[in-house]
Amino acid sequence: MNNLKNKVAYITGGSKGIGFGIASKLLKAGMKVAISSRLLENAEKAAKELGPEDMVLAIASDVSKLGDEKAAIKKILDKWGKLDVMVANAGVGHFAPIDQISDTLWHEMVNTNLNGVFHSLKASVEALKKSKGYYITVASLAGTNFFANGAGYNATKFGVVGFTQAAMLDLRPYDIKVSTIMPGSVATNFNGHKPSKEDAWKIQPEDIGELVLDLLNMNPRTLPSKIEVRPTRPDKK
Ligand SMILES: NC(=O)c1ccc[n+]([C@@H]2O[C@H](COP(=O)([O-])OP(=O)(O)OC[C@H]3O[C@@H](n4cnc5c(N)ncnc54)[C@H](OP(=O)(O)O)[C@@H]3O)[C@@H](O)[C@H]2O)c1
Repeated sequence: MNNLKNKVAYITGGSKGIGFGIASKLLKAGMKVAISSRLLENAEKAAKELGPEDMVLAIASDVSKLGDEKAAIKKILDKWGKLDVMVANAGVGHFAPIDQISDTLWHEMVNTNLNGVFHSLKASVEALKKSKGYYITVASLAGTNFFANGAGYNATKFGVVGFTQAAMLDLRPYDIKVSTIMPGSVATNFNGHKPSKEDAWKIQPEDIGELVLDLLNMNPRTLPSKIEVRPTRPDKK
């Protein structure tokens, strides 16, 4: 994607964590950025921190609902007339042995992490065909490494990786690039965590933002379709 200035991105779950980090880096590169949250007030608070109203749009959308995502894309097209980059980032994690995890928490993960990326794609794909844009999912190393207490989360993230790779094959004939980013530990609010100086060894959200910029700046002929990214030195507890 040549010259990112005034290109338009939509990042689901941009109110905090990785989504916020991606939004801040794209804005610094001159892009216009829409961010979503389940709660408008969360999105608006983050948008105020990120930049001026002409460059940042706060949207309330629950990615588990296709109608919300369709309405989100309409807001973006109404405001800026196009969509160049869709980052399906919103996600939740609940961790417990499979015999103990409740069906409510299981379904929240499936509906947000897996159905959510489908809804974000479905709502944005026609706009991305027009712009010859970029669709990126934020999966996880949990999409390739399974672990105890992770059956629900693993199921969704393995699903996101498979979904994104197959979508890449379907969409590249339209000149839409598709990639999945699979981070290890990132210092965010994930699963109720409060980031602190103890998290200095982890990937920081803005590092994922830099990675997204690297993808957007990649020569159009080249597509890193599946990117694993991990802390250089894991915690030494
Ligand atoms: N942190 C890590 O170590 C790590 C590692 C690998 C992958 N990931 C993935 O990275 C993504 C972002 O997570 P994070 O670490 O940044 O966590 P986070 O700090 O908890 O942020 C999650 C974001 O997703 C939003 N969100 C949650 N459910 C949503 C829904 N149904 N609809 C719309 N937005 C929703 C939240 O917004 P509101 O709460 O305001 O609605 C928030 O903006 C997730 O997909 C996660 O699985 C995280």
